[in-house]
Amino acid sequence: MDDTPPPPLGHEAVEAALLSRRSVRAFLPRPVPAELLARLLTLAARAPSNSNTQPWHVHVLTGEPKRRLAEAIVRELEANGRAAETEYPYQPGEWQEPFLSRRRSFGQSLYLDQLGIPPGDAAGRHAHHIRNYDFFGAPVGLIVTVGRNPLAGALIDAGLFLQGLATAARAHGLDTCLQASFIDFHPIIRRHLRIPDDRFTVCGVSLGYADREHCLDLLRTEREPLSAFVTFHTDDSPTQP
Ligand SMILES: Cc1cc2nc3c(=O)[nH]c(=O)nc-3n(C[C@H](O)[C@H](O)[C@H](O)COP(=O)(O)O)c2cc1C
Repeated sequence: MDDTPPPPLGHEAVEAALLSRRSVRAFLPRPVPAELLARLLTLAARAPSNSNTQPWHVHVLTGEPKRRLAEAIVRELEANGRAAETEYPYQPGEWQEPFLSRRRSFGQSLYLDQLGIPPGDAAGRHAHHIRNYDFFGAPVGLIVTVGRNPLAGALIDAGLFLQGLATAARAHGLDTCLQASFIDFHPIIRRHLRIPDDRFTVCGVSLGYADREHCLDLLRTEREPLSAFVTFHTDDSPTQP
């Protein structure tokens, strides 16, 4: 048996793709070639899943179908607001620390620092919020659904698919924004995309080439240090489990 270790992967490229991934909220109209889009989805589908069940389904929207969905959602938002309930809980009823502070800090960077929208400016916030439904001008909008059974497991698998997609996009010079804002309009999405009853919408994704000239292109988010989210259990730990 040949036990020679396989050659190492190009870690610089993988790290660069992971480190340069960020949520982009302003895209150029430049189209994404169909073969490239198919390649990105194929790469994302290499994600692991429960017993290889691959519970994800992706609706790809471009051109008129994308425009029609955006229009229907904004019409619904302005006439009736969000759906009374989402199909799975993404937002908590009330944020607790430390998540509350992290969320506030992100909101300030996005709205105040980059867009110049002060906290009380509901109209300004609304104007930015509805850009979600136009997929921030991206040429490709995705709606990702999974089967309902079991809910939490399917959501983990979908998350892995989405991170793979975002990383693969970066590797090919494209950017993404994952968007839970779509789940507030799940009945409209279900109707437009004819999503069967046994599936539900996990989120939307904007996909395309970032507009590097846009003020939102300066937005960068921080991460907590390892010490905030890792507990090492080793022979040197003061208390052994
Ligand atoms: C599941 C999920 C849903 C999200 N939904 C939205 C959204 O609806 N609109 C939006 O602008 N950003 C959305 N985001 C992006 C987050 O705000 C972003 O990931 C976070 O602030 C960290 O910033 P980064 O992605 O630039 O590193 C979402 C992210 C995730 C993972």
